[in-house]
Amino acid sequence: MKTYPFFLTLFATITFSSCYSQKEHHSKNPNLKDTFKKSFYIGTAINESQIEEKNTAENTLIVSQFNSITAENIMKSMNIHPQKEKYAFDLSDKFVAFGQKNKMFIHGHTLIWHSQLSPWIAEIKDSTELKNVMKDHISTIVSRYKGKIDSWDVVNEAVNDDGTLRKSVFLETLGEDYLAYAFQLAAKADPNADLYYNDYSMTNPAKREAVIKMVKKIQAKGIKIDGIGMQGHWQLNSPTIDEIEKSILAYSDLGVKVAFTELDISVLPSPWELQGAEISQQFENTPKMNPYPQSLPDSIQEKLAKRYSDIFKLFLKHKDKISRVTFWGVHDGQSWLNDWPIKGRTNYPLLFDAKLKPKKAYYSVINTTKK
Ligand code: G3I
Repeated sequence: MKTYPFFLTLFATITFSSCYSQKEHHSKNPNLKDTFKKSFYIGTAINESQIEEKNTAENTLIVSQFNSITAENIMKSMNIHPQKEKYAFDLSDKFVAFGQKNKMFIHGHTLIWHSQLSPWIAEIKDSTELKNVMKDHISTIVSRYKGKIDSWDVVNEAVNDDGTLRKSVFLETLGEDYLAYAFQLAAKADPNADLYYNDYSMTNPAKREAVIKMVKKIQAKGIKIDGIGMQGHWQLNSPTIDEIEKSILAYSDLGVKVAFTELDISVLPSPWELQGAEISQQFENTPKMNPYPQSLPDSIQEKLAKRYSDIFKLFLKHKDKISRVTFWGVHDGQSWLNDWPIKGRTNYPLLFDAKLKPKKAYYSVINTTKK
């Protein structure tokens, strides 16, 4: 009988059992992307360190749970186009390569936005100059990733909550035509990418009506617009499922796709709910405003799970209208909501905790697909 050296046998045994257990783990454990594969993409926003795959555990979580990515910050104007003649594509190239390597749906965020705008753009007063800058910015970025970035937030947060258009360098210098112009430029640079208008508070009736009017105007000009991004920075009790449903129906009546682009549910008190408080006091980090610094009580964990379950049941009901559901971050430890609207709080808005463990909310979301 042929005998193998001890270390070879040991190596083969370890390799086999590790492959076996990984396979077994994969088949026994659900994941978000496969659970919703037949309904919509499940995405996450990733930060600089995650794009660069600096943390193996985070990387494994991203790749095993999500089939779509959005860059949380690095593609915003001030980062990607810091000076008129200078684009910084290093990180966005890595972001796109990461998505391609993992066969993910890649979303570009964001082309025209008043915030995190390059300071040199914010100072432009001349309409011809601003039009030229918009053309250069959109054409350069979208063409570079033509056929690689699948969809874009072409315009972000252009409408106020009361339905008026937000004052920005774009509105003030070019009037409302800048909206259609942005979509026209993006469509020219990549005719096959899906082009979205993206905003928060999209269930607010006044804002919803204004966004619908705006989209209709763009469509009436024969300019391509493919989708509405409802960001979904929500709370435990608001907006109601009914308000969300009305909005899905109203937006999809425009003949466009609906995506949930930045989903997270804050479990912390909001300073704006305090009656009669001075605005300056609203932003103080007091123990009252940061009630769960160590861990989330089980009762709130349950509420969050129920809230996510109700939301995903609604998403499944309208899966024919929904293209993608993206969480704004991978895990609680990384969420922007730890620093907004009050700095240094501990929030719990996502499906994975700060130790990357799935929360009750994760299982409640997975269970929505079970009959
Ligand atoms: O990059 C600097 C870093 O150099 C510095 O050391 C650090 C010190 O605080 O700040 C870093 O910049 C921060 C940046 O996030 C990257 O972490 C900014 O201060 C901070 O303001 C910025 O916040 C981002 C915010 O957009 C800015 O508007 C959040 O991470 C990001 O989650 C958030 O995302 C937006 C969407 O793009 C649009 N919809 C709303 C959503 C939430 O606000």
